[in-house]
Amino acid sequence: HGNAVHDLRQRLLRDLRISVTDRCNFRCSYCMPKDVFDKDHVYLPHGDLLSFEEITRTARLFSQLGVGKLRITGGEPLLRKNLEALIAQLAQIETLDGSPMDLTLTTNGSILARKARALKDAGLKRLTVSLDSLSDPLFRQMNDMDFPVATVLQGIEAAQAVGFANIKVNMVVKRGVNDHEIVAMARHFRGSGVTLRFIEFMDVGATNGWRLEEVLPSDAVLERLQSAFALTPLSATAPGETAVRWGYVGANGRHDPSLGEIGLISSVTHAFCHDCNRARLSTEGKLFLCLFASEGWDLRALLRNGASDSDIRQAIAQVWGQRSDNYSERRSQHPEIAQQRQRVEMSYIGG
Ligand code: GTP
Ligand code: 5AD
Ligand code: SF4
Ligand code: SF4
Repeated sequence: HGNAVHDLRQRLLRDLRISVTDRCNFRCSYCMPKDVFDKDHVYLPHGDLLSFEEITRTARLFSQLGVGKLRITGGEPLLRKNLEALIAQLAQIETLDGSPMDLTLTTNGSILARKARALKDAGLKRLTVSLDSLSDPLFRQMNDMDFPVATVLQGIEAAQAVGFANIKVNMVVKRGVNDHEIVAMARHFRGSGVTLRFIEFMDVGATNGWRLEEVLPSDAVLERLQSAFALTPLSATAPGETAVRWGYVGANGRHDPSLGEIGLISSVTHAFCHDCNRARLSTEGKLFLCLFASEGWDLRALLRNGASDSDIRQAIAQVWGQRSDNYSERRSQHPEIAQQRQRVEMSYIGG
């Protein structure tokens, strides 16, 4: 049962990003600014969250429609109690073409040192850690919870120690805030087995006060890196990849894999909607077709109203089949839409 599905722009459904909680212990201003996500902010009640069984069932149905990659996000996913039990269930899911399922997670790293072993044992394959600065005062300021950078760095080391290879680190670059650390971050992770990726500050959600002036275009990031290191372009590892890759050049004048690579994620200056194969499942079970969507499709209603697997699979295929979302491309053409739209928050929909 099941078949690959294309949307209206001939894009395959390949990647499902699952938000497991709308809570986070950080208050990064570009994501959950403190003045909005304060003590009066109402989070989803527990009964509204998809259960692990509901998530696993949904993910299996997506796999039968061609999804080969599952990413656990949030909020901070490691705050969801007993998350390793969900990982263990998801690790059992097979792909349509029999290739191994890519199973990965994005975390702020704050409690990673404590969780790394359990995640590895449960069958998690890869990890991405968000880290915006190596300077302790600036890191504490950017997470806005006075959280020390050393703990996150220890989390990354602990994850490497239990056997996670090819960890990625995501740095959101804000001009005038942390852009002076671009080269220092690269130097720190060069040759460490960690791939550092620079993300343009995006106008996601409706609360982060996004301004184009605070975006440092990836071209400028690359220029700064090239003034410090020799880099050579690398080809994409998968269709629809978000990052453009550059490898460190070694003594022989070619990419030296032991030095590793960096990535540039340029959703503002070089939109990558044309081959976007990502669907998102929100914490309460709504299917979103774009990071910048304002509405989702209520899959939880189907899950809880006794719909059969084939009913739900058909519903997903039908929704994907009608998809035409390409927000970042349209924003590049019409910058004014950044101000106009109602959008869900990234902590709810999942990064
Ligand atoms: P891998 O490269 O396989 O590890 O996964 P990935 O590229 O999906 O990486 P990740 O989930 O770490 O995404 C990196 C960042 O890119 C996210 O945190 C977002 O900021 C941004 N991003 C991911 N997907 C999209 C997307 O569909 N649209 C836009 N505009 N940005 C995205
Ligand atoms: N712009 C770019 N990246 C963002 N992230 C969260 N909010 C934004 C934004 N406004 C990134 C975080 C993390 C992932 C979950 O999404 O840095 O790596
Ligand atoms: Fe939390 Fe990640 Fe959002 Fe920062 S970017 S507030 S760590 S979910
Ligand atoms: Fe995909 Fe929407 Fe991001 Fe474009 S803006 S890459 S369509 S999620």
